[in-house]
Amino acid sequence: MASQRIRSRPEEGRKGRRMSSACRPGALHTAFNMLALSWIIISELLLSAHCLKDLKIFVPEAVLMGNAATLSCQYDLEQAALYAVRWYFGQEEFYRYVPREAKPTFVFAVAGINVDLANSDATSVTLKGVTRELSGTYQCEVSEDAPLFHTEIRSAYMQVIELPKDDPVLQVDKKVIGVNDYLKAVCTVGPSYPPANITWNINGNQIRRTPLQSISQDSYDGSTTHSALEIHANSQALQGFFETKYQHSVNLQCVVTIRHMYHKVVAQRIGLNAAPPTTISPNLLGLEGSKRYANGDPDNSALTGASQRCCICCGSFGAVSLATFTLAMAHL
Ligand SMILES: *[C@@H]1O[C@H](CO)[C@@H](O)[C@H](O)[C@H]1NC(C)=O
Repeated sequence: MASQRIRSRPEEGRKGRRMSSACRPGALHTAFNMLALSWIIISELLLSAHCLKDLKIFVPEAVLMGNAATLSCQYDLEQAALYAVRWYFGQEEFYRYVPREAKPTFVFAVAGINVDLANSDATSVTLKGVTRELSGTYQCEVSEDAPLFHTEIRSAYMQVIELPKDDPVLQVDKKVIGVNDYLKAVCTVGPSYPPANITWNINGNQIRRTPLQSISQDSYDGSTTHSALEIHANSQALQGFFETKYQHSVNLQCVVTIRHMYHKVVAQRIGLNAAPPTTISPNLLGLEGSKRYANGDPDNSALTGASQRCCICCGSFGAVSLATFTLAMAHL
């Protein structure tokens, strides 16, 4: 008894101190010590009603298919003895640890589960070569020994991830867009589990769904994931770049993620053709051409003062319409 006390002294924590003073009645003569003892007894009684406490489960949120996964369970038994730790996948028990048995570990056959006994004990269990089917809820149940057999249980979800074998592919219907164009892009990711998440960025800013920015995604477990983007030059994401004189292209990105295990970006530069709508000049040129034929003087008409004036007129008309367009855009 005495030697035990001495040995426990250097590593004495909160618990150790309480133990040693309770076990040393000779030191408790003063009223102060009596008070301290009753406080210790009361707190000891209160604690004994909740000896098993702070049960926490730690399960990897995501683990790659084929890898090992270590699940652990931490608890504080205070002075109580451990009776058993049980692990369940869904409702099925697959591992049990009972310290009072000669061979404390037990494994129960559950489809797909392969327990690595060398790396399993009272607080953790390791699964070898996890498969997709082992995605699900795991539970850890800890029981105190007699007389209370107080039991607690915690659960957590684990996702087994299968990554796509190939890099994502980004296809666009045009590499240069004009002020009235729609740009269509499709991003494709090979089969994965769970299906990948795809988001779109332009110059680093995520494109949200709006009437001029449509995004659709289709995917099924373990199959290819596609995301289609259809975006107009007047959309929120692009409009601003057309108004900036010095912006000749933007960087379109397809961002593919699967939990925190996979993150790939495929990019495509898209040219911006911010020239004023070309529909005005061909019409006017066409009119000019027909007038030329009517005059029967096609060779000289281009050099006459009248047609030059007309060109200046067209030019200023173009500038005015561009300015009006720009103003209209600024007001939008
Ligand atoms: C996709 O995104 C949603 C919402 O952020 C998230 O809950 C889900 O886990 C993600 N799926 C994958 C496979 O990353």
